[in-house]
Amino acid sequence: MRTIDWVDGRIIAVEQTLLPEVVTTLRIDTVDQLVDAIKRLAIRGAPALGVAGALGVALAARGTGDVRVEAARLRAARPTAVNLAWGVDKVLARLDDGPDAVVAEAVGVLEDDIRRNRALGFRGARWLVDRLGGGPVNVQTHCNAGALACVEWGTALGVVRALQETAALGHVYVDETRPLLQGSRLTAWELARMGIAHTVVVDSAGPTVIARGMADAVVVGADRIAANGDVVNKIGTYPLALAAARAGIPFVVAAPESTIDLATPDGTLVEIEVRDPAEIVGDRATPALNFAFDVTPADLVTAIVTDERIICGQPLG
Ligand code: MRU
Repeated sequence: MRTIDWVDGRIIAVEQTLLPEVVTTLRIDTVDQLVDAIKRLAIRGAPALGVAGALGVALAARGTGDVRVEAARLRAARPTAVNLAWGVDKVLARLDDGPDAVVAEAVGVLEDDIRRNRALGFRGARWLVDRLGGGPVNVQTHCNAGALACVEWGTALGVVRALQETAALGHVYVDETRPLLQGSRLTAWELARMGIAHTVVVDSAGPTVIARGMADAVVVGADRIAANGDVVNKIGTYPLALAAARAGIPFVVAAPESTIDLATPDGTLVEIEVRDPAEIVGDRATPALNFAFDVTPADLVTAIVTDERIICGQPLG
């Protein structure tokens, strides 16, 4: 099943807020509907947001509104993951060539996502097995960087899946990833469907899993990688990187090239989404600060694995 697809001139996407209890899809015909789905995280995950941005411009180009205005609204729906703006801009560049060219470009972005993530998954798996001197590799991961965050093949979970397919995977530890539980709801669901042995731990237990030697590597995705190699990812990633450095195990970031943002010099300059406090405290009057992402400094990142290369310390440009 594709997480997001273009079928008969509309977007079909898995409704991720209802998983894992309810597996259902959304039919999206307008940019308004798409912006709503993105804002409430029914469609989420950096590469999937890139595809959504691309397909959203296709919807706009087939509609009657001002395509550039619609594109600007889409771009602003979620600011942290650079892929959304990347997908919008890539397809918008074809606007002068007419609606058919715009749709073809958007569908190209969608198809490319599968190919690129598959490539980075196997590249990352090979790198880990080489680095660790063989398998089985026990992995700690965070949030959901699986097929649900992409089209069909994940980034961090793409590496896990490639390890499984090459008989080099041990056990996977999954942070539950508060507050929306993308780890225990989405990643655990995906791993179960793939028949991969896994255990969910609370976010604050991730560093202990690492310190106790239960994980051989941390593998996560990214929402934006700044020009200096700083990695912006779901809140709670940074403590895993600190723990990995202390334990001397690799901290690996798996992301397509479209997640690298050379226009942003370092991670401190990235706009971090601050989401509704109600996601933490419900309707209680307690003050709450709900950062959605954190910044892992480049010096804590052992390797960035993309669809084209492995970056270990060298400049990204
Ligand atoms: O808020 P979300 O669910 O969109 O956050 C997703 C993440 O942080 C993922 O780890 C990241 O996008 C990488 S997905 C391949």
